Amino acid sequence: MDLREFPHNDNGNGNLPPISPTTYPRDWSAYNEAQTQEKALFARRLRRTETIRRMVRETRLSPDDLIMPMFVCPGRGVKKAVESMPGVAQMSVDNIVAEARETWAAGVPALILFGIPERKDSQGSEAWNDNGEVQRAIREIKERVPSMAVITDVCMCEYTDHGHCGAIVGAEVDNDATLELLVRSALSHARAGADIVAPSDMMDGRVGAIRAALDSNGFSHVAIMAYSAKFASAFYGPFREAAESAPKFGDRRSYQMDPPNGDEAMREVALDLEEGADIVMVKPALPYLDLIWRVKQEFNAPVAAYNVSGEYSMIRAAGINGWIDEERATLEVLTAIKRAGADLILTYFAKDVARKLRP
Ligand code: PBG
Repeated sequence: MDLREFPHNDNGNGNLPPISPTTYPRDWSAYNEAQTQEKALFARRLRRTETIRRMVRETRLSPDDLIMPMFVCPGRGVKKAVESMPGVAQMSVDNIVAEARETWAAGVPALILFGIPERKDSQGSEAWNDNGEVQRAIREIKERVPSMAVITDVCMCEYTDHGHCGAIVGAEVDNDATLELLVRSALSHARAGADIVAPSDMMDGRVGAIRAALDSNGFSHVAIMAYSAKFASAFYGPFREAAESAPKFGDRRSYQMDPPNGDEAMREVALDLEEGADIVMVKPALPYLDLIWRVKQEFNAPVAAYNVSGEYSMIRAAGINGWIDEERATLEVLTAIKRAGADLILTYFAKDVARKLRP
C-alpha cells in the first residue's frame, strides 16, 4: 500500500517523518501491510538501546588508529603554547619525551615529529643536522619509550628562511635540487632511529629518491609514509604558527595539489606506491573524505589521513565557546575519517581521544 495514504506520515513531500509515539497511527494492522514502513521499524529496532547499538556498530575507532603530531623546539624545559591550537605546544626535547611517554601510556602507538630549528637558512641545512632537535628527540624517545613508533615529517619549510618546502632556484621551488635536501634529512632521521619517514613536500620523485637512499645506506627497514595527496589547503593555517613555517612570499600552489582534483590524487597515490611508499596519505582529511574512500577502494594499501590543524582548531574554538559538544564532535569526525577508509589518522586529538576510548 502507498504510505502517503497515512495522514500522520505525510509531511508533504512523500518522505516519512521520524516515528515518535505521538505520530504513531493507532491502526497497527495497516503497518503490517506497509512493507516499507516495516523496514523502517526494523532499522529502528537495532537502535533502541546503547547495548544494541554497541552490538551492531560498524566502525570502531581505536587508539591503535591514531598518530600524535608533536612540535620539537630548541632549549630545555620549554613548553610554548600555540595560540591558534589550544592544547598544543612547541616543546623542547625533554618535554617531548615526557609527552611521548604519556601519549604511549594513553594507548597511542605512534607520534610524528616536526622540528623548529634554532636557525634557518636558504637551504634549510638544520634539517639534516644529526644533532638537530628532531634527531635528538628521536634518539631520546627511542631510548626512554622504546616501543613507541617514531615517524618524522620530512620537509624543508620549517628549516628554510623563505619558508618554502624546497630549494629556491630563480623564482621557483626547484624539484630536483630539493630531492637532494630531502634525502639528506630522511637519512639523518633514519640514522637517529626513526621507524618511518614521511615526506610532505610534494616534489615529484621524492619517494623513489628517499627509498633508494635508505636502501643503499642500510636502512631498508625504515618505512615511508608518503603525503601523497596533499592539497594546497586553507586548513594548514594554525600549523604554520605552530611550526613557524609560513612561506615568506607566494604560496604553495605550485607544488601542493589543487583542491578540486580527485583523479589527479589517484595518479599521485599510484606514483608514490610505485616508487615504494608503504603508507599513502590524504591530507587534509575532512574536506577530502571522498578521496580517502577512493584511495582505499582503488589501491587497498595502508591509508593515512591527516586531520590537520585547521580541522582541530575549528572544533576546539567552537568547543571553548560552548557552541559545540567538543568530545562528541571529535569522536564523530575521527570515526567518519575511519569509516571513509583511513587505517591511520594523524590528529592533535590523539592523546585525549585515546584516553576516552579506553575502557
Ligand atoms: C609541512 C607540513 C604542513 C603540514 C604538515 N606538514 C604544512 C604545510 O604544508 O604548509 C600541515 C599540518 C597541519 O596543518 O596540521 N610541509
